[in-house]
Amino acid sequence: MKSAVLLAPLAVSIASASPHFGHGSVSNWKPAGPNDFRGPCPMLNTLANHEFLPHDGRDITKNAVIRALTSALNFNATLASLMFDMAIVANPEPNATFFTLSDHLNRHNVLEHDASLSRSDAFFGNNHIFNETIFSETRAYWTDAVLNVDMLANGKIARQISSKAFNPTYTFTAMMEQFSLGEVAAPVIAFGDSQTGLVERALVEYFFRNERFPTELGWTKRPGVVNQEDVLRVSGMISNATSLFTDSAPATSARRRDLHAGMGV
Ligand code: HEM
Ligand SMILES: *[C@@H]1O[C@H](CO)[C@@H](O)[C@H](O)[C@H]1NC(C)=O
Ligand SMILES: *[C@@H]1O[C@H](CO)[C@@H](O)[C@H](O)[C@H]1NC(C)=O
Ligand SMILES: *[C@@H]1O[C@H](CO)[C@@H](O)[C@H](O)[C@H]1NC(C)=O
Ligand SMILES: *[C@@H]1O[C@H](CO)[C@@H](O)[C@H](O)[C@H]1NC(C)=O
Repeated sequence: MKSAVLLAPLAVSIASASPHFGHGSVSNWKPAGPNDFRGPCPMLNTLANHEFLPHDGRDITKNAVIRALTSALNFNATLASLMFDMAIVANPEPNATFFTLSDHLNRHNVLEHDASLSRSDAFFGNNHIFNETIFSETRAYWTDAVLNVDMLANGKIARQISSKAFNPTYTFTAMMEQFSLGEVAAPVIAFGDSQTGLVERALVEYFFRNERFPTELGWTKRPGVVNQEDVLRVSGMISNATSLFTDSAPATSARRRDLHAGMGV
């Protein structure tokens, strides 16, 4: 009896602190209804679909982000908190304490940027809904059933070349590059191996297309905590893989010697 009384206020405060998202689980999934906000981030949309975040996509507070990223993806709480701090600029109100998945995250050239993997540039239309035509530009470079950092980097660069060539308002600042590298690394962090940078293509495609955790394909939450150093390692590997230079081919120096010999040098 005594313990029930002691626990009652705790139960009330938990219930009132999280009215919309007490039921987050990988098996509980419901797509957005007509009044639910969804935006350009396939993972935040997924977390809302699974009710790790408020299903209506509104009132995304720091606590909500920490709870969602720790419980669904085993993110370090400090990392989740840092990500929220970097994202809160999306809400233009001074001293904002929350953002929404659509009207805030969709704001072009704040966090949302050109050359996304699966969304159109704002110049061409809807910048936040999944677009299979755009996604196929990226997927053309995902040339094996297991993606590596070269394939992920190639898809990223291809989307940038497409935007730079055809979007007269193409914008991609150094800060956007840092966010973009994190986004390209994200599927490896969530569904793959952050030591090797490998991830099963089927899991990533399912996630982008359905905004749902790929449990029916056998995915389970990684056992180890995701730390900032994991994100930085995979982003760094992808950044390196965006270079179009290679080491010299084994035969090249021999060929060059023959050529030079033939020219008498
Ligand atoms: C506070 C947390 C987060 C915020 C505010 C956020 C916000 C965003 C925004 C604004 C974009 C759009 C960028 C663009 O224009 O392409 C985006 C893209 C993306 N995000 Fe998130 N995100 C968060 C966490 C995550 C996490 C934890 C993951 C997965 C581990 C993730 C995966 C992705 C991916 C894969 C994209 C690229 C989508 C594309 O290029 O089509 N995000 N995110
Ligand atoms: C979470 O990250 C913080 C700051 O980087 C670190 O001090 C802490 O040890 C991490 N926790 C875990 C469980 O890895
Ligand atoms: C925002 O916070 C700062 C620092 O705490 C405070 O000085 C300022 O008055 C706040 N602005 C609003 C609009 O609440
Ligand atoms: C997808 O993107 C293409 C290219 O930007 C565009 O023409 C098409 O209208 C978009 N589709 C949707 C459903 O927004
Ligand atoms: C990226 O390349 C640099 C230079 O070769 C190397 O020092 C660094 O370790 C690489 N980063 C990652 C994360 O592999």
